[in-house]
Amino acid sequence: MQRTKVKDLLQGAEVGKEVLLKGWVRTKRGNKFVNFIAVNDGSTINNLQVVADAEKFSEETLKDVTTGAAIAVVGELVASQGKGQAYEVQATSIEVLGKADPETYPLQKKAHSLEFLREIAHLRFRTNTFGAVFRVRNALAFAVHKFFNEKGFVYMHTPIVTASDAEGAGEMFRVTTLDLDNLPRTEEGKINFEEDFFGKATNLTVSGQLEGELAAMAFSDIYTFGPTFRAENSNTTRHLAEFWMIEPEMAFYDLQMNADLAEEFIKYIIRHALENNREDIEFLGQRLAEEDKSKPQNERQEMTLIEKLEFVVNNNFERITYTEAIDILLNSNHYKKKKFQYEVKWGVDLQSEHERYLVEKHFKKPVIVTDYPKDIKAFYMRLNDDGKTVAAMDILAPGIGEIVGGSQREERLDVLVERMKGVGIHEEDLWWYLDTRRFGGCQHAGFGLGFERMVQFVTGMGNIRDVIPFPRTPQNAEF
Ligand code: 4AD
Ligand code: MG
Repeated sequence: MQRTKVKDLLQGAEVGKEVLLKGWVRTKRGNKFVNFIAVNDGSTINNLQVVADAEKFSEETLKDVTTGAAIAVVGELVASQGKGQAYEVQATSIEVLGKADPETYPLQKKAHSLEFLREIAHLRFRTNTFGAVFRVRNALAFAVHKFFNEKGFVYMHTPIVTASDAEGAGEMFRVTTLDLDNLPRTEEGKINFEEDFFGKATNLTVSGQLEGELAAMAFSDIYTFGPTFRAENSNTTRHLAEFWMIEPEMAFYDLQMNADLAEEFIKYIIRHALENNREDIEFLGQRLAEEDKSKPQNERQEMTLIEKLEFVVNNNFERITYTEAIDILLNSNHYKKKKFQYEVKWGVDLQSEHERYLVEKHFKKPVIVTDYPKDIKAFYMRLNDDGKTVAAMDILAPGIGEIVGGSQREERLDVLVERMKGVGIHEEDLWWYLDTRRFGGCQHAGFGLGFERMVQFVTGMGNIRDVIPFPRTPQNAEF
C-alpha cells in the first residue's frame, strides 16, 4: 500500500478510502473508549488526528505510541466529528516503527525555549516552530532559483576554497593540510605554503562575487547561491560564521538597475512564501504576537507578521544617499538626546543602531542607501565623479538592518588599479580579475543577499541561529 502525506490527507485527498500514513507522534490523549493520536510527517504544520478505538487496540499496542515515536497507521480517512480538523483517520492498524522513551525523549508536550532547542538542534525540526521555519526557508530557496531562471540568469557555482582574500569582506578561515604540529618553514622562518595542498595559502571564500563577475562577462546575467564563510568574532543575532548568500551579477547594469532588480527580487521571494507557506507564516506570526505580550507596549510590533510582509511586497522601498542618511540621523531627536552609542558624522560606517533608526523609526519600510564614502567600502565599487563616494548600495530591512550589500563595479582599469594600490592589494594576485577590464570590459553591477537574514525577515525569528539548521558561530560547531 502506498503512503499518503499528511498534507494531502488533510485536504481530503482520499476521503472514504483506506489509507496508509507514516509520521511522528506529537501527542496522544484519550479515555477508556478512544485514543486520539496527533501525527505529523513534516509535510505541513498541521497534525493528522488518528482515532484508535479502545476496543480495537489493546493497552499493550498503544503503550509505545508516545510523543516522538515513529508510527505507521492504516485506516479509513473520514470527515472528522471533532473540532479543529476537517478529516481524521479511523485506525485499523498501528505499527510502532521507532519508539521514543518518554523518560528520556527531550521534546515533551510543553513549550520549550528557543535557547534550549538550540542545544538539541538535531531534534528541533520536530517542533511546530522549526517545522515552519525550515519549510519557509525551503520555499524562499526555491523562489530564488525560480526568479532568476524566469529572467534568464545562469546559476554559477563559484569555488568555496580560494587563494584570494581580495574581497576584504572579513576575516577568513584557513584551509590547509599542513601538519600543524610540524609546520614547514621558509628560510625567513615564515610558514612555507608551497608545501601545502594547493601550493599556496588558501581559505574558505567570503563571497563568490569576483568569480561571478568573470562569468557575467560571458553570460550577461548570472547568480550564485552558496555557502560563504567569515571568521569574524561577532556574537550577534545577525552574524554567522557560515552563511548562505545569493549574488547576482549583471553586465550592462548601472546602480539604479541594480537597485531595481534587488527590490523586485526581494518582493518576489516574499510573495512566493506568502502564497505557498501561508499557514507556516501565520503560525510564526502568532508565535511573535504571543512573545510580544510579555514586552512593554512601546517595544511591541505595530503590524502582524503577515501585515508586515504584505506591506513590504506592496510598497516601494525608500531610496536615499548615504549623505542624506547622515543628515537624517544628525537631525533626529534620537541624536539630539544622545541616544546613539556610536558616532554619527559623514565618513563613518553606519552602525546597526543607525540603520535600524532609519528603517524602523524614520521611514518604517525597507530603505536602499546608495553612494557611500569610498573609504568604508570595497575596492571594486565604482568611484563616483565626486571622487569621494562610490556607487554602492545597501538595503536595510526593519528588524534586521543590512540585508543586501551591492554596487556598480569599477570597470575602468586605471581607476581600479589605483584603488587596489590604495588598499594594498597586489595586481599579480588578481590578474584574472583585472583581465575582465582589459578584454571586453563593460559597465556592470551586482549585489549579495544574506539568505539567513532574509529568512529571519520572513519568519520573524529574532536570532539568526534559529533559521539555519546547524549554526556555526564562535565557539560553536556542534552537530
Ligand atoms: O555586504 P556583503 O559583505 O557583500 C558582499 O559580500 C558582496 N560581495 C556582495 C556582492 O556585491 N556580490 O555581504 C552581503 C550580505 C549582507 O548584506 C548580509 O545580508 C549578509 O551578506 N552577511 C551575513 N549574513 C550572516 N552572517 C554574516 N556574518 C554576514 N555577513 C554578511
Ligand atoms: Mg555589507
